[in-house]
Amino acid sequence: MQAFLKTGKLEPADTKRPSTSRSKEERNESLTPWVEKYRPRTVEDVVEQAEVVEVLKQSMDGGDFPNLLFYGPPGTGKTSTILAAARQLFGTMYKERILELNASDERGIQVVRSKIKSFAQLTAGNTRSDGQRCPPFKIIILDEADSMTNAAQAALRRTMEKESHSTRFCLICNYVSRIIEPLTSRCTKFRFKPLGEEKIVERLEYICEKENLKAGRPVLIKIVEASDGDLRRAITHLQSIARLKGKGVEITIDDAMEIIGIVPDKWLDNLMEVCKSKDYSKVEDFVEEFLLEAYATSQVIDQLSERVIYSNEFSDRQKSMIADKLGQCNYWLLEGGSEYIQLLDLCYIIIKAYS
Ligand SMILES: Nc1ncnc2c1ncn2[C@@H]1O[C@H](COP(=O)(O)OP(=O)(O)OP(=O)(O)O)[C@@H](O)[C@H]1O
Ligand SMILES: [Mg+2]
Repeated sequence: MQAFLKTGKLEPADTKRPSTSRSKEERNESLTPWVEKYRPRTVEDVVEQAEVVEVLKQSMDGGDFPNLLFYGPPGTGKTSTILAAARQLFGTMYKERILELNASDERGIQVVRSKIKSFAQLTAGNTRSDGQRCPPFKIIILDEADSMTNAAQAALRRTMEKESHSTRFCLICNYVSRIIEPLTSRCTKFRFKPLGEEKIVERLEYICEKENLKAGRPVLIKIVEASDGDLRRAITHLQSIARLKGKGVEITIDDAMEIIGIVPDKWLDNLMEVCKSKDYSKVEDFVEEFLLEAYATSQVIDQLSERVIYSNEFSDRQKSMIADKLGQCNYWLLEGGSEYIQLLDLCYIIIKAYS
């Protein structure tokens, strides 16, 4: 081995090494989920949440940074906004000045007493490592705060007040009603709205351009419709489609529907038809055949609810009867109920509505 090392034959291998590492970097780049790759880097990049961004920018400029509570549905930019704000505030000191805890970390009362308290007690200067000025406080980000126990939330109250000279808290949650009142009253609240269809389409168009993807507006609109104002979901769908189709190839609506798992209209038409026929054996055959297609039953329920609500075939009373059953079926599916039984049950109610 030694002799081999001395022969100088390693040189070619050595010269190869940089290219191997470059390709590794390239591979990492292509493996990065797009939701991370296109996470806003500055608060100005955050789409749609204009009021939040405006107030936050004023607080950042004025230096009177309050404790924050961000709430709203998933994928609307809550985590991204505070991370971007922290990056802008602290620059090179970013890592030292924030403590980020989310639901995957243990956040019972013990953690509030030890980890959060000890981080909050550290003092923070107003100069960065590169000599520039930065605000003299730290930020503790409690992501998914609605999953913290009430006891842990209660324990936070005192820490929040006592350490207010050197620490700001940012609580993030989906359901603000699960945060105890004494905490919400200590924070400035920001509501994150579901993103508008047009804004999501624009963002997807931007990503398509960067990634050299060929997807027309109708395809993007289909993706947006299946995303419920959740930009994260829309971007994830787009990346899944891109993985299948590859770059530079035209993506069709059918590709998008297939990958997102949207049930084609013909299945919904058939379902309504067999129910209308009131033939129970036909309904059973249909349900069996449909389940073989392996679409998610919860997806059928989503699509059916829209169809029933806007249908002219049913009276309001019939619509409410079906909607009630749709809700029940969804519940039982979440509880692990059988897709076959739930779908049959649903069909029988639709038959009843037709009778
Ligand atoms: N308003 C937005 N502007 C730009 N990108 C966004 C926005 N909202 C979501 N995104 C995109 O979606 C991804 C997820 O956003 P983020 O993690 O901020 O959502 P969240 O509101 O914290 O959701 P959750 O409640 O599920 O934690 C980001 O990486 C980003 O790519
Ligand atoms: Mg989040």
